[in-house]
Amino acid sequence: MDFFEAVETRRSIKHYDTDAIMPQATFIKMMDAVMLSPTSYNIQHWRFIRVTDCNLRQDIQQAAWGQTQVVDASELVIICADMAAWQDRPERYWANADEDTRNVLVPMIEDFYAGKQQLQRDEAMRSCGMAAQTMMLSAKSLGYDSGAMIGFDSDEVARLIKLPEGHVIAMMVTIGKAIAPAKPRGGQLTRDETLKTNQF
Ligand SMILES: Cc1cc2nc3c(=O)[nH]c(=O)nc-3n(C[C@H](O)[C@H](O)[C@H](O)COP(=O)(O)O)c2cc1C
Repeated sequence: MDFFEAVETRRSIKHYDTDAIMPQATFIKMMDAVMLSPTSYNIQHWRFIRVTDCNLRQDIQQAAWGQTQVVDASELVIICADMAAWQDRPERYWANADEDTRNVLVPMIEDFYAGKQQLQRDEAMRSCGMAAQTMMLSAKSLGYDSGAMIGFDSDEVARLIKLPEGHVIAMMVTIGKAIAPAKPRGGQLTRDETLKTNQF
């Protein structure tokens, strides 16, 4: 599928074909694309929970105020992040770089993040946003629909998936085959309202 066709036809889907499955090879192809998403200092804060357990899906649905797409979708991926990834063996993020590059960048990571908790969380969320969009556009290109979700009790979902200390849930993404189209677009802001030149 052409890139712009994927962008224009991706919509947030709420009603999925419960019989549809995403073959494992397709899921892996999608995830391999997701992991090529850009992140600051290549830190790759994201940690993904693929929920395959039907009972767990139902518990998560309860925590998501009953939204049916949580159980009906072929795949449910909870996009989490390790907010302390910046200090977890940061040399990994530049393992394939030449030594000079690595020797400059790895100490920069420490200087950039140490003591800045808000920044650490912001960066984790930025990375997850990048991953989510790659996931949804990859799914579309592979013939699947998707929907991002933040309409759930994050503390409860954290408990259900045993989210480790220092991690955060950014959002969930459902993936599958739509059985009903999305409603017409809610209303896009104009280019003039959102795109300025040089300064506000
Ligand atoms: C981070 C995020 C969280 C969202 N959470 C929900 C949700 O919990 N339930 C829902 O029905 N839609 C959810 N949406 C879908 C938005 O309502 C939707 O993206 C928006 O209306 C634009 O429509 P479109 O995605 O079809 O273009 C979410 C979207 C994003 C990006």
